[in-house]
Amino acid sequence: MSLPEPVVLGIETSCDETGVGIVRGRMLLADAVASSVDDHARFGGVVPEVASRAHLEAMVPTVHRALDRAGLRVSEVDAVAVTAGPGLAGALLVGVAAAKAYALALDRPLYGVNHLAAHVAVDVLEHGPLPQPCLALLVSGGHSSLLLVGDVGADVRPLGSTIDDAAGEAFDKVARLLGLPFPGGPHIDRVARDGDPVAVPFPRGLTGPRDPRYDFSFSGLKTAVARWVEARQRAGEPVPVADVAASFQDAVVDVLTAKAVRACREQGVGHLLIGGGVAANSRLRAVAETRCAAAGIRLRVPRPGLCTDNGAMVAALGAHLVLAGAEPSTLDIAADPALPVTEVLV
Ligand code: KG4
Ligand code: ZN
Repeated sequence: MSLPEPVVLGIETSCDETGVGIVRGRMLLADAVASSVDDHARFGGVVPEVASRAHLEAMVPTVHRALDRAGLRVSEVDAVAVTAGPGLAGALLVGVAAAKAYALALDRPLYGVNHLAAHVAVDVLEHGPLPQPCLALLVSGGHSSLLLVGDVGADVRPLGSTIDDAAGEAFDKVARLLGLPFPGGPHIDRVARDGDPVAVPFPRGLTGPRDPRYDFSFSGLKTAVARWVEARQRAGEPVPVADVAASFQDAVVDVLTAKAVRACREQGVGHLLIGGGVAANSRLRAVAETRCAAAGIRLRVPRPGLCTDNGAMVAALGAHLVLAGAEPSTLDIAADPALPVTEVLV
């Protein structure tokens, strides 16, 4: 006899999205997200205090919205999962406090989980159980990581990460340079469609023979774009925004996909999963598909709404842990802004 599928409420508040998701086992029942992105736009980046305050205001209404969409009463929730880290301290704190309150009030187990592992686990909602092992490339405004994943609930190993800016951060900063709105990724993606990706030969960070194989660096690329744009402006020439966007985007995508495919080959892994907000990038998706097909690697990319931060990913990882019989967290867990990726459950 199989176990009944647990209904898990997942809460995500690590950055600027208040996400509340509800799953039953591997089935997504609801995914409600309230974003404070518009409040940060004029600052050109996420302001932690503004994000925390927005989480506080959005939390309860977003939980209610998710329950309504799932057609459930809160008493029908079997377990509560929450992002315990990594992320912005004050923002995480709001989600962790809310999750503890729901767990205590409902007398249900609490699972404090790792945000990065949740970005991986979310794909089961769309594409079924994860192959073991698989390689995960997580690229967003806050992280750029290559992970070797055995059981996503227990065995996540970092192979490499960015040594400076995250991939999405580079998109956002370059967009700003080009006069495009925040967050810049989708705008660069859009204007790059009319540009020439080989117009400007921007540098590919950390791709030399003696560089770390699985780490990334995007700050040199960002500076190269800034210098190139400044030189044009000094010379009184117009900046070809579409060409610069396409060339910059190509430099990022080239490095991300080359390193991910190389890691799969060297680690003997046949499945690559891409997640995080930058996974919505059309060029990244296209190049990853081509390179994975050429290397015999199966590619899994969740739909864009599940790639950006959301509560469903936390609920998905929570359900995985419940079904695996993992010991729940205690009610005194802390939000940990620097939670290492190896700690899937706190
Ligand atoms: O995962 P996410 O919603 O939040 C975190 O940062 O954790 O990712 C947001 C990031 C932003 O930097 C945004 O510019 C980038 O993802 N992004 C994109 C695209 N859509 C979102 N970057 C490139 N191309 C896109 N289409
Ligand atoms: Zn994220």
